[in-house]
Amino acid sequence: SKMSVRDALGSQHTSGERVKVQGWIRSIRSQKEVLFLHVNDGSSLESLQVVADSSFASRELAFGSSVAVLGQLVKSPSKQQNVELKAESIEVIGNCDAKAFPIKYKERHPLEFLRQYPHLRCRTNVLGSVLRARSEATAAIHSFFKHRGFVHVHTPVITSNDCEGAGELFQVEPSSKTEIPNENFFNVPAFLTVSGQLHLEVMSGAFTRVFTFGPTFRAENSQSRRHLAEFYMVEAEISFIENLQDLMQVIEDLFKATTMTVLSNCPEDVELCHKFIAPGHKDRLEHMLKTNFSIISYTEAIEILKKASHNFTFTPEWGLDLQTEHEKYLVKHCGDAPVFVTDYPLALKPFYMRDNEDGPPHTVAAVDLLVPVVGELFGGSLREERYHHLEQRLARSGLTEAYQWYLDLRRFGSVPHGGFGMGFERYLQCILGVDNIKDVIPFPRFTHSCLL
Ligand code: 4AD
Ligand code: MG
Repeated sequence: SKMSVRDALGSQHTSGERVKVQGWIRSIRSQKEVLFLHVNDGSSLESLQVVADSSFASRELAFGSSVAVLGQLVKSPSKQQNVELKAESIEVIGNCDAKAFPIKYKERHPLEFLRQYPHLRCRTNVLGSVLRARSEATAAIHSFFKHRGFVHVHTPVITSNDCEGAGELFQVEPSSKTEIPNENFFNVPAFLTVSGQLHLEVMSGAFTRVFTFGPTFRAENSQSRRHLAEFYMVEAEISFIENLQDLMQVIEDLFKATTMTVLSNCPEDVELCHKFIAPGHKDRLEHMLKTNFSIISYTEAIEILKKASHNFTFTPEWGLDLQTEHEKYLVKHCGDAPVFVTDYPLALKPFYMRDNEDGPPHTVAAVDLLVPVVGELFGGSLREERYHHLEQRLARSGLTEAYQWYLDLRRFGSVPHGGFGMGFERYLQCILGVDNIKDVIPFPRFTHSCLL
């Protein structure tokens, strides 16, 4: 019967069970009379050792080739593994030209090198581990919300609004307009979504607790290690929430619970990342999971930063955005652990954030979570649920006409509510210790690059 490498490795019936295992050759070693292969099919970091008679050796049986091995699972005499496969037959399904194959046998390729080959790098140990951890994290996030009674919502990818009001939009048009003469396809300008938040607010007005987890797009002209043009965002929206404290609790729980699940479901993958990409990160992550996240206000943050001004390229000042260097300093300042920054200046934030109304300096009930490796990981806020306040904010931004439906939510059974968004790739960077965001997504898209 067919068996994955993971199942074969975990098999208890090693007394000669006959199985067929398919995968790609990761290593090959020949001795006088025996041939040792390691076959990997991506189901686990560990490969399955295949032991074959040296008469099986052929030019095609080489690093990178795909094979089907039929044989018996037996207890391995070596300490390296419990189980090995004694081959009765080996079929080369597709051979691999070692000269042309960019991935070389026994070589440890730098991540920057592998980035040139998004179609092949997933066959290396390191990308294999990152992407399996990504898959586990995706499932863990869905399960976190499900267990807390959140309803999952598919928010649209194409939308006519600019949620963040930052103008970083990709416009959507058909490639040929011939079928709809003299008109836009949608009659209005349409864009790839920058955030599902406004649609989630609609749904939280019916289901109370909702979340979405999908691709988001931003035309940011940035070559940074933490920005992509297409990234995945986890967003939640909660009705009847009245303070930032409650929102921060959900954020901290989500971060910790998801990470614990990933650590327990694929420990060897996380360990490989820590070992090969970020030595020392294991302890840092354990510390993050143990401590209570700190909380400081934006105003306090600026005071802390001003005392350390000489460290920065950008001078920190009340009313200005926090730069990456500032975020990283605050994380270090708070014990190299996550820190919530609350109550940002109203002028820096989008129209939907709830006005704190505490006189000058004028702030909104916003919260960001800053973490090691990336800086800003979460952004959230209480939303302006008061009709007249929101009406004024919209008017000031010139959005009154476009957002009548959004005002409706405040006319018909409005409730205090709030939510947040977490950049999923940044989350993976933070737990795995990966410096560059392009290495935690299978197919990165960014300025001047859309391979495949
Ligand atoms: O802080 P942002 O812009 O917040 C929102 O979009 C809210 N509407 C979310 C909400 O309240 N529902 O984005 C949220 C997070 C950031 O903290 C960051 O982690 C990530 O999304 N992010 C990016 N990740 C990768 N590449 C980019 N270009 C990103 N822009 C934001
Ligand atoms: Mg933000």
